[in-house]
Amino acid sequence: MKRPQMIAGNWKMNTTYEEGLLLTEALINAHPDPLCEIVLCPPFTHLFGISSLIKTSPIKLGAQTMSQEKNGAFTGEISADMLKSCHCKFVIIGHSERRQIYQEKNTDINQKLTTSIHNQLTPILCIGETLEERNNQQTLSILQNQLKEGLKGLSNDLLINNQIVIAYEPIWAIGTGKVATPDQAQEVHQFIRNFLSSQFSDQLAQQTQLLYGGSVKAENIQALIEKPDIDGALVGGASLTAASFSAIINGAVQTLTR
Ligand code: PGA
Repeated sequence: MKRPQMIAGNWKMNTTYEEGLLLTEALINAHPDPLCEIVLCPPFTHLFGISSLIKTSPIKLGAQTMSQEKNGAFTGEISADMLKSCHCKFVIIGHSERRQIYQEKNTDINQKLTTSIHNQLTPILCIGETLEERNNQQTLSILQNQLKEGLKGLSNDLLINNQIVIAYEPIWAIGTGKVATPDQAQEVHQFIRNFLSSQFSDQLAQQTQLLYGGSVKAENIQALIEKPDIDGALVGGASLTAASFSAIINGAVQTLTR
């Protein structure tokens, strides 16, 4: 049986609060009863307002990052408790922009992921290789290291009982218009599933949703999620208008119902 499919939108540092509310309203109206999970990850400032709008809709809410610290003197940071009080269910951890621009290391990502799980927030762990690493045939070893370090110290039982989501986002495909081919993405997704099976358990490997991210659009979503190990997408640029995000959701649903 196919796992539930998820289409998540990472708005990054885009939209004003008002624009965010309008975009959310349009998506609620367009997808009153979606056959896939829809997750919106707007900027922090929008979370509480959007949570009120989606209260009676199946759309779920996620944040784009969070602090590993519980509370205290960490100017500018946002804690798991704060996200939960805004009704967030998900949090993106280790996005390549956090890794590259804000120098987040695998050890930081591991701490954030551990904190999110202990606070019943579902982490969407992002992993991915640069173009140089791909060209040097290092893709799988880089990803294996990101998975090993990111999931360090977490037990199989904890991961089984608290869902995690893993997003494969090749850095060369993010915001570039260059999408990985469905075969390239499937190869990596299968590798991730095998990793989970060998390091944790087959049950965890089978239940974990694996998303692809990097220039996903309506034109390429269907070929991607037709692949057996691709369970949805993490969408950046194309999640910023209701028309383009809805077209991706509709494409995914059509593939599921074929
Ligand atoms: P993109 O971004 O869809 O704009 O390539 C994806 C992401 O960064 O999650």
